[in-house]
Amino acid sequence: MSEVGVIFGGPSPEHDVSVLTGLQAARELAGSLGHTVHGLYWTKGGDWFEVAPTLEAGDFADGVPASAHRLRLVVGPDGGFTPDGRRLGRGRPLELAAIVVCCHGGPGEDGSLQAALDLAGIRYTGPSAAGAALGMDKLVFHAVVTSAGLPTLPRVLLGVDTAEVGFPGPYIVKPRFGGSSIGVEVVHDLDAAKVLLTTSVHLVNGAVLEPYRHDFYDLQIAVRSWPELELSAIERPLRTTRAGGAAGEPEILGYADKYVGGEGMVSAPKELPAVLVGDLEEHIRQAAKRIAAISGLRGVARIDFLSDGTELKVNEVNTIPGSLARHLWVEPPVPFSKLLTDLLDEAQSRPARRYTAAGADGTVLRGASSIAAKLS
Ligand SMILES: Nc1ncnc2c1ncn2[C@@H]1O[C@H](COP(=O)(O)OP(=O)(O)O)[C@@H](O)[C@H]1O
Ligand SMILES: [Mg+2]
Repeated sequence: MSEVGVIFGGPSPEHDVSVLTGLQAARELAGSLGHTVHGLYWTKGGDWFEVAPTLEAGDFADGVPASAHRLRLVVGPDGGFTPDGRRLGRGRPLELAAIVVCCHGGPGEDGSLQAALDLAGIRYTGPSAAGAALGMDKLVFHAVVTSAGLPTLPRVLLGVDTAEVGFPGPYIVKPRFGGSSIGVEVVHDLDAAKVLLTTSVHLVNGAVLEPYRHDFYDLQIAVRSWPELELSAIERPLRTTRAGGAAGEPEILGYADKYVGGEGMVSAPKELPAVLVGDLEEHIRQAAKRIAAISGLRGVARIDFLSDGTELKVNEVNTIPGSLARHLWVEPPVPFSKLLTDLLDEAQSRPARRYTAAGADGTVLRGASSIAAKLS
């Protein structure tokens, strides 16, 4: 069995949830699959540490576990995760067949980490840098999906496009680059929405605004890309979180529903498979396939829809979903071990990105005038 890495944590509001996903993946890879697993813990401050794959979530509750060893991520042709400090083997990167990326939100899911791994020559699971960036940007993803002819709710950039808002409240405001319902708020009018721009720490990188539809609920489907495109069963998670906190306020599927006091989305209340009438299931499957194709989904992603049981709207894609959406693979059944094995196969067989300098053969440089002449 090969040596593999698992990256989790990171400077993201979803850091803690990522630790849970990463420890599940690390445990499965080291346990039933027998790999030598290097836990690659990315701190909230952006440092890297190697940790044992057998650690528990509580070991990270107060920061870096005591047994962790510092690493550096070096980019370049001889790049990789390199032990730092006085340990033996200093200077040589870990030899990893591939890395399972388990980051949620922030630079671990927005393409930054993926670009760094590309530059370091490391093979990894999940979205490419471009796919991750598209999936993290609620405004751009919405534009791409809408232009592909798929059904969406209207969505505008709060504070910029708001003069042209062509729909009445109540509104739902979301961080443009957010996740896990963190920073999502329901408001009655535009003025209240704009106030959030100055008061919410989660909206500093921008926010999108769309109609809040109290009659809509979530329907989610996972997609995996290797060995071939495959769709999971459809889940209807049950929402209980009041967006404003008070009784009588609108409900959304919130952070607490998903993660607090349980095993995350794996054990959260749900209907799975969701009981759907008419051709709703077929619509979801067709839309999911189309989204997988136009957004270049790689690895395991989860596509979320909103519906009232008849009408269907595409909401968002999670390119590295919580627990890698392992609980959704009930029909057809895909054990977590198989999910991870296929992710690693894809990472090694079909790298997310290959750079080429083909065409840059010096012709332009040999024929170029002096730089001074170009500047004159
Ligand atoms: N337009 C909407 N109307 C009603 N509820 C919504 C709407 N958009 C999102 N929600 C609810 O809010 C939750 C979080 O929104 P979502 O767009 O998924 O953001 P995040 O990326 O934070 O998960 C959804 O799971 C859903 O329950
Ligand atoms: Mg969501």
